[in-house]
Amino acid sequence: MISETAPLASLDQWEDDLLSRYPEPEHKSKEDYRNYDTPERDTVREFYRLNHTYQTYDFVREKESDFLKFDKKELPVWGVAEFLNTLVDDSDPDTDLDQLQHLLQTSEAIRADGHPDWFVLTGFLHDMGKVLCLFGEAQWAVVGDTFPVGCKHSDKIVYPEFFANNPDSYDERYNTKYGVYEPNCGLRNIHMSWGHDEYLYQIMKNYMPEPALYMMRYHSFYSQHREEAYNHLMDEHDHEMFKWVRKFNPYDLYSKSPKPPVVSELKPYYEDLIAKYLPSTLKL
Ligand SMILES: [Fe+2]
Ligand SMILES: [Fe+2]
Repeated sequence: MISETAPLASLDQWEDDLLSRYPEPEHKSKEDYRNYDTPERDTVREFYRLNHTYQTYDFVREKESDFLKFDKKELPVWGVAEFLNTLVDDSDPDTDLDQLQHLLQTSEAIRADGHPDWFVLTGFLHDMGKVLCLFGEAQWAVVGDTFPVGCKHSDKIVYPEFFANNPDSYDERYNTKYGVYEPNCGLRNIHMSWGHDEYLYQIMKNYMPEPALYMMRYHSFYSQHREEAYNHLMDEHDHEMFKWVRKFNPYDLYSKSPKPPVVSELKPYYEDLIAKYLPSTLKL
């Protein structure tokens, strides 16, 4: 039976599905990523049905007022990564990496390409918002493609047909092109569907350089960074910053290698990097 809160066997199933939608241009053929069996595809579909049905403008505002109080937990940054790792799901195929390994593979691929240290740190941090799951949030309120709420849903969002179940689609405050927003008002004025991206951004916003914050906040906004479906809400500055979001995306999607990083060898480097940019503990 498929669960209302957890149709996916693990959160990684969403990211694996992204690879079938956005396969790596060079090295791998589409077919390599497309050999899913049907049940997996069905759970991803069910996941998006729930996501698109329940991510309403009011839902997002409620989650913001709850989680942006940051009164849930206080941990050192490395402790957040270890806490996140308690999420490992044993129903995963054995080729899958745990959350910490995904973070380190992403950041190590960024480091290997010689990018600035704050970009490397962004790779290490980018999915830490998934701790939302450990606070009892449903999968569809933690992962999945994100999109603006409070205005018309683009048909460039994956499985757009499920927005027919979303009450905002019938609310005239929210179902027009601009909805509650102004043309090209800038993404800083837009409420995005609630999930790990926005949550992490809000935790990090006083500490990291602006391009890093854009990468954290919009890395799951595929309908914009891949499909450009919301140019009418973006301002010039957003367009400039989305160059970084697009630069980050391949590291997130294509850095998975079957050889897991050796955590103990890498930890000292990341502890130094964390100390350079972030406070000793984070309030979640
Ligand atoms: Fe993510
Ligand atoms: Fe990721």
